[in-house]
Amino acid sequence: MTHRKPDHEAIAILDFGSQYSQLIARRVREARVYCELFHYDAPEEKVLALEPRGFILSGGPSSVYDLDAPRLPAFVLESNLPVLGVCYGMQLIAHNLGGRVAPAQHREYGPAELSVSGPGCLLFSELQSPISVWMSHGDRIDSLPPGFGAVAQTNNSPIAAMAHAERGLYGLQFHPEVTHTPRGAKVIRNFLYQVCGLHGTWTAKHFVDEAVAAIRQQVGDGQVLCGLSGGVDSAVAATLVHRAVGDQLTCVFVDHGMLRLGEPEQVIRTFEQEQGMRMVAVHAVEEYLEALAGVTDPEEKRRIIGERFVRVFESEARRLSRFDYLAQGTIYPDVIESAGTGRPGAHRIKTHHNVGGLPADMKLELVEPLRFLFKDEVRAVGSELGLPDEIIQRQPFPGPGLGVRILGEVTWDRLETLRAADAIFTEELGQAGLLRQRGKSGTAQAFAVLLPVRSVGVMGDGRTYANVLALRAVTTDDFMTADWARLPYDLLARVSNRIVNEVPGVNRVVYDVSSKPPATIEWE
Ligand code: XMP
Repeated sequence: MTHRKPDHEAIAILDFGSQYSQLIARRVREARVYCELFHYDAPEEKVLALEPRGFILSGGPSSVYDLDAPRLPAFVLESNLPVLGVCYGMQLIAHNLGGRVAPAQHREYGPAELSVSGPGCLLFSELQSPISVWMSHGDRIDSLPPGFGAVAQTNNSPIAAMAHAERGLYGLQFHPEVTHTPRGAKVIRNFLYQVCGLHGTWTAKHFVDEAVAAIRQQVGDGQVLCGLSGGVDSAVAATLVHRAVGDQLTCVFVDHGMLRLGEPEQVIRTFEQEQGMRMVAVHAVEEYLEALAGVTDPEEKRRIIGERFVRVFESEARRLSRFDYLAQGTIYPDVIESAGTGRPGAHRIKTHHNVGGLPADMKLELVEPLRFLFKDEVRAVGSELGLPDEIIQRQPFPGPGLGVRILGEVTWDRLETLRAADAIFTEELGQAGLLRQRGKSGTAQAFAVLLPVRSVGVMGDGRTYANVLALRAVTTDDFMTADWARLPYDLLARVSNRIVNEVPGVNRVVYDVSSKPPATIEWE
């Protein structure tokens, strides 16, 4: 966005490769301050274009004395803006300003008690010492740079926090961004509000106003195309674009046959009938099934489903009329993951087809209004736009849909079997109040998986040889790690009983008790 309002508040976070960098960004956003995460080496103009009111330097796996250690770009300290360095970020500040960093005698990893000694240090304002914090570092600060004071210590780190209040420079040896530092969010808020003097003005409404203006500016009187999958991200992106340019937007919904029970009807009802969008529904089930015939490898299925989607979408777009823009529900974690902001070990475990896939020769310019939002922010924006809870609070559903929940070959019969069983599981969880809903706890994701094995059973007087179906339900905050949900036995019994009785072809139901890692949430 080029035009900044007078109340523009933003923070630039430089990522030095910590696995927690995204969490810093989330904590800042939760404090209603807009921020962006940059690779530590990002060009100065790009970072300063954000017009940040302060910097946060993330942690990272390096040591400042390593030959190829990431350096602190000069413009950060030259800006005279407040800076908060976390762990490696703190060491960088110390190293650059004449302090000394040395390997700690003991690598400190895990919980520690922090005593705050610097009276009146703004970072710890309204916090009771000692504070439980999470440490994870090898190096530590041995001697402070001139003008800095040690404001907190732990048993192992005499300088667990340092401050140069006049210059607004702060360093923390611990990680305030992780949940294991329970009051860490308050430390970050103190930095934002007390040190940087921000007010926390960034809300869903604020975002919608800005995004609508930016979309209008980008699109002008052009025509926009958007693929609706029924998922939260594309739903919110489309609604936002619709709010901005109305009937200049056409949404295409591809029914590839791998959706859950009642989903195609729900998408059409919500967007065409309730939101009044121009919408084209394409029935492409046969085409997909043909392409998937005989395919059992999960990555191959993903590739085929993704590729086919692009093709169907493209031919529909060519048939409809001339479009200038393609709206997509790309969200911030997709951007961070595909660009990589510096996390060395961040590689993809599964190919997700949601990002990219744009037909190159169509020359459509992308409109990605959610590009800088985290998932919970996308939901808040969806609510602000008046989308129903059944759309914005829905559980994540993979782009390739039930295609990756049928192990082995995908056929129409197997899809129907899985759909019926999955609907029973979801219905029972809902009735038991165990599906996660706004502000309530519950399973984060729950679904059925159809296995490529058959087992022996007995029904009435006859022996059966039929499908095994697995139930998967997990609790998680971020889907990066997850635990299997401890569902009540009675509920599992009811679900199993109903599935075996109501769904032809299934004679055995099992419950998945694996956590992630080592398993993943989906089965393929
Ligand atoms: P895993 O199985 O990797 O899943 O633990 C983590 C989250 O990602 C979802 N998922 C996908 N989403 N396309 C998607 O859009 C995919 O191919 C895909 N595979 C997994 C999964 O449902 C879970 O929420």
